[in-house]
Amino acid sequence: MKILLTGKNGQIGWELAQVLAPVGELVALQRGALDLAVPDQIVRTVRSVHPDLIVNAAAYTDVDRAEAEPGVAMQVNATAPGILAEEARRLGAPLIHYSTDYVFDGAKPTPYVEEDPPNPINAYGRSKLEGERAIRASGCRHLILRTGWVYGLRGRNFLLTILRLARELPELKVVDDQIGAPTWCRDVATATAQLAFQTVAGKAEGLYHLAAAGATSWCGFARAILRERAGETPVRSITTAQYPTPAERPANSVLSSELILARWGIGLPKWEMSLACCLREMSSAASS
Ligand SMILES: NC(=O)c1ccc[n+]([C@@H]2O[C@H](COP(=O)([O-])OP(=O)(O)OC[C@H]3O[C@@H](n4cnc5c(N)ncnc54)[C@H](OP(=O)(O)O)[C@@H]3O)[C@@H](O)[C@H]2O)c1
Repeated sequence: MKILLTGKNGQIGWELAQVLAPVGELVALQRGALDLAVPDQIVRTVRSVHPDLIVNAAAYTDVDRAEAEPGVAMQVNATAPGILAEEARRLGAPLIHYSTDYVFDGAKPTPYVEEDPPNPINAYGRSKLEGERAIRASGCRHLILRTGWVYGLRGRNFLLTILRLARELPELKVVDDQIGAPTWCRDVATATAQLAFQTVAGKAEGLYHLAAAGATSWCGFARAILRERAGETPVRSITTAQYPTPAERPANSVLSSELILARWGIGLPKWEMSLACCLREMSSAASS
């Protein structure tokens, strides 16, 4: 099986490159080799690689910057997945793609299920929702996995930011009125690899939520990170209103991942467990 992976240097993309390599012949590309903002390049690349499966882990993920660059976000997160999907359909190959909790407005008091109507409140969320729609409209076989609050040992993410700020500041102030499920990029990649064969076989298709079990606030996440690291920097809880950002975020970002568990037996661990594993790996990498 030949797999074309985009965004190989991203958080999820890097982990995918590790877990998909044993699954088949992997062609993993970074932005320099395939720029999703250039439609011709997408078409040329897919046609020359001729994959049996496309996994799109590339995306415009800077939520705040997207407010100032909604056109670029739309190009990368909506137009490009639509072209990938069109090319996948031509080849008869399925497409695995990632979407986000930010397609929802966060007003629901309970975890979001797949059937809940999306209503994005920022440019990033709107672009990701359009990406989902473009893929569905193409008629290609596809699996869209919505996840949220992704962190890992590489790239730009909340975990690494908190560890850095805890070294630099005497006290951290972190938003406590937005809740979600911090999800380790490794867990998303492992689940994707488990689903890859079923997707190629035409079994695993459609839209699923895939996030860590449980929920917390950004403040709770920050405290857990520092607790695991035996950090002594105090974390003070603040409100969203006290921390204005260019992009509005949903107050409730919790995704229910019950459907993918019921259909495919795929369930991610509790967020605290994965956080502990991720930090243990960070410690052992630092000491080796
Ligand atoms: N991060 C989260 O909290 C989160 C939450 C929900 C859903 N998701 C979704 O999960 C997927 C993976 O996210 P992630 O956290 O792994 O993202 P990430 O770490 O930001 O990685 C995104 C990758 O996309 C690449 N990319 C950006 N623009 C590109 C372009 N024009 N052409 C080609 N590649 C481009 C980046 O390349 P460069 O390194 O060159 O910039 C990077 O390698 C995305 O679909 C994202 O929307 C993420």
